[in-house]
Amino acid sequence: MSDWQELERKYFMSTVERVPLTLVRGQGARVWDEDGREYLDFVGGWAVNSLGHCPPAVTEAVTEQAHILIQASNQFYTIPQIRLAELLVQNSCLDKVFFCNSGAEANEGAMKLARRYGQLHLGGAYEIITTIGSFHGRTLAMVAASGQPKFQQPYVPLPDGFINVEYNNVEAIKVATTNLTCAVMLEPVQGEGGVNLPDDDYLAEVRAWCDQRGILLILDEIQTGAGRTGTLFAYEQYGIEPDIMTLAKGLASGIPLGAFLAKDKASVFALGEHGSTFGGNPLACAAGYATLRFIIDNDIAGNARKVGQYLIERLESLRQKFQFITDVRGCGLLVALEFSEDIAGSLVMACLERGLLVNRVKPNALRFMPPLIIGRDEVDEASDILDKALSGVVS
Ligand SMILES: Cc1ncc(COP(=O)(O)O)c(C=O)c1O
Repeated sequence: MSDWQELERKYFMSTVERVPLTLVRGQGARVWDEDGREYLDFVGGWAVNSLGHCPPAVTEAVTEQAHILIQASNQFYTIPQIRLAELLVQNSCLDKVFFCNSGAEANEGAMKLARRYGQLHLGGAYEIITTIGSFHGRTLAMVAASGQPKFQQPYVPLPDGFINVEYNNVEAIKVATTNLTCAVMLEPVQGEGGVNLPDDDYLAEVRAWCDQRGILLILDEIQTGAGRTGTLFAYEQYGIEPDIMTLAKGLASGIPLGAFLAKDKASVFALGEHGSTFGGNPLACAAGYATLRFIIDNDIAGNARKVGQYLIERLESLRQKFQFITDVRGCGLLVALEFSEDIAGSLVMACLERGLLVNRVKPNALRFMPPLIIGRDEVDEASDILDKALSGVVS
């Protein structure tokens, strides 16, 4: 058998600190390595595998579509794209959709749309206010938008027009707003920043401020959308509606697909002002349609809410037992466990040895983003493994 990890070091640019595990197969919430060892997957393709690995409904839709039509230029109408756009609009507060291939690209498109809105309706305003600790992607503009210096520093100078302010602080947004501001862009819950939940009234206050100033509110629901936080979209839990929303990750079960959606008033692109070769191709949209249909028809978001609550309860009991657990927080099946020490890396390895995959979101915090189809049994299994791993760290 090849030494895949050695070959990776030889041929691949090392940008990712990988866990020493080569995965070859997945089914539901389980994955297997090249030696046939089984793992319970609480990383879920980084919040992508909402329906688990190789969900039959999606595998069948993709297989069928692959026999019919995989790619056609966006110069032509294709049916899966239109069906998915209709499903998204019917199940959200937005009116129009544009498809692309990733989260960063969806955010880029959303920001171009906001700038175009600024040109047309706000006297050329182009600045976008984003928050510190946010993550919006890896393109140059999204690195500038993401308020995380570690992603920004290696690439200065960055594109102009992004103001990073403190998260969960509406006053900071107010202070940063000028006549040059065309939009505020937020993750409803900061995912990569460490699963940071907003205060109850934050999003409503930001919405009210945007309305008062006539600027757009863009919600990046790339990680929180498609049922992850316990409702189809996280904004539903905060009693507000965005003008623009971006999606990717959980939208198509791992076939690359991103989207940005806008209210009619913000849908201001004219012919030729945006485009994509692959974006919205029939294969990706067949996967997206099958995924979203399944999520809606089977109330997968409701399952995420219930099972997520149970996961939080189980983690709370671990917190009673281990004094160094300082916080348990989350929403649906996007959950973090924080420690007083930087032990997340060793816990990832300790869980791996016991057959559980988890993510180190910060040096002192683990994140859980399992498939949304899991039940209490999988939570019990993961909690028991975590318990042993945590005991190992203290002893
Ligand atoms: C909230 C959010 N926005 C954008 C992105 C970027 O998505 P992608 O990696 O598909 O470009 C991510 C990825 O983690 C994300 O969590």
